[in-house]
Amino acid sequence: MKSLLIHGGHIIDPSQGIDEIGSLLITKGKISWLSRGEATPPQPDYDVLHAQGLIVCPGFVDLHCHLRQPGFEEKETIATGTKAAAKGGFTTICCMANTNPPLDNQTTVDYVKSIAATEGVVRILPIGCISRGGKGQELVPMWELASAGVIAYSDDGEPASNSRLMRQALDYSRTFDLPIIDHCEDKALTEGGQMNEGIISTRLGLRGIPAAAEEIIVARDLALAELTEGRLHIAHVSTDGSVDLIRRAKEKGIKVTAEVTPHHLTLTEEKVIGYNTNAKVNPPLRTKRDIQALIQGLKENVIDIIATDHAPHTETDKLCEFALAPSGISGFETALGSLMSLVHDGQLSLVALIAKLTYEPSKIIGNKYGKLGTLDIGASADITIFDPDLEWIVDTKDFASKGKNTPLAGSRLKGKVIATISQGRLVYKDDSVKVKREGKTLKESQRGAKPLLHN
Ligand code: DOR
Repeated sequence: MKSLLIHGGHIIDPSQGIDEIGSLLITKGKISWLSRGEATPPQPDYDVLHAQGLIVCPGFVDLHCHLRQPGFEEKETIATGTKAAAKGGFTTICCMANTNPPLDNQTTVDYVKSIAATEGVVRILPIGCISRGGKGQELVPMWELASAGVIAYSDDGEPASNSRLMRQALDYSRTFDLPIIDHCEDKALTEGGQMNEGIISTRLGLRGIPAAAEEIIVARDLALAELTEGRLHIAHVSTDGSVDLIRRAKEKGIKVTAEVTPHHLTLTEEKVIGYNTNAKVNPPLRTKRDIQALIQGLKENVIDIIATDHAPHTETDKLCEFALAPSGISGFETALGSLMSLVHDGQLSLVALIAKLTYEPSKIIGNKYGKLGTLDIGASADITIFDPDLEWIVDTKDFASKGKNTPLAGSRLKGKVIATISQGRLVYKDDSVKVKREGKTLKESQRGAKPLLHN
């Protein structure tokens, strides 16, 4: 494969503190050279991707998504899910275990890895169940799953309700240095719940899910993490109170990390008005006050990362009365555009946003799969190129994901992925960008330089 020069973009790589105009070269799937400012690469022959006016950053790393294969291929497959991920700028995605059969043994994990190798266009790192069948009763063979290559354990979709099981999982996972990811939900409190509990749920006549249903389990998990010294990761934090609990736990030195989704950071419970089943998600969309606390949590590193919780469902699944609809939002393809609203509104810096999508999640995964979330020399060439100011309208007909279930359909977003490179391969480019072959060297291709892709 010929080398590729990404030329003249605004490089932002929080792992190395880079935030300036520069160029980088990809050779044999790795980052082989990076220069801040103007410089000519050390070798003469390469294709050029002009990135003037665009942000060039490490490929996004998503610690939490649902690819649905095996078992729910009508909702998503590894092929469609990874295409959607690439379109959203994600080059490493960690898939949850609530498939059918669930990822609770080596065979199912091997299955996902083999389909990922043949049909996936970005790197997939599987997450194994905490309990057999994800049923919350009996611990999985943790060593078997760790040897199969899972990067964490989670029964996501369901909480680890049994405190004894959660304690054991946290205890044993220390041997493998892998986190236990919990979906924090007190099922007795959420039974029949459809949306955030408050005035809007009362007006709509929908049973509410109180913030306490999340916070009770967050508090329990933090106590168990302290007891066991195991690594706890809290999935999709949605409430002000959870942020406070995690803040205090971190101050005490408890080993906890936490994530927040783009939808919990940008949308409120008001999206449910009109009984829009595409706004039904678990945990539910909350209030403006929760959003402010979540953003503050991100800024203070109380919340470590942003993860999509991409949860595709079919149109038929969602075309029903609110109470019968499954929870979940298809999130890969709108993640950057919706998150950029926080940057455009001055609530989060662009560097912080990129850190939460790249370097920070890579720290949770560790280095077993090589250096991720970085543009460091020698690292896998996983690169996202985006236009921070390009406005576009969400049209779910254009989604690569089978899941069209987003409350953002028809919304105008500002910020769009233009190209995604995964392990040195161009796996996505925006159709509006013309591909043109020019000269072979930087000097030739600089003539009439325009932000064009060519290979
Ligand atoms: O809304 C959700 N959907 N939350 C979850 O935790 C699971 C997910 C799914 O699997 O559809």
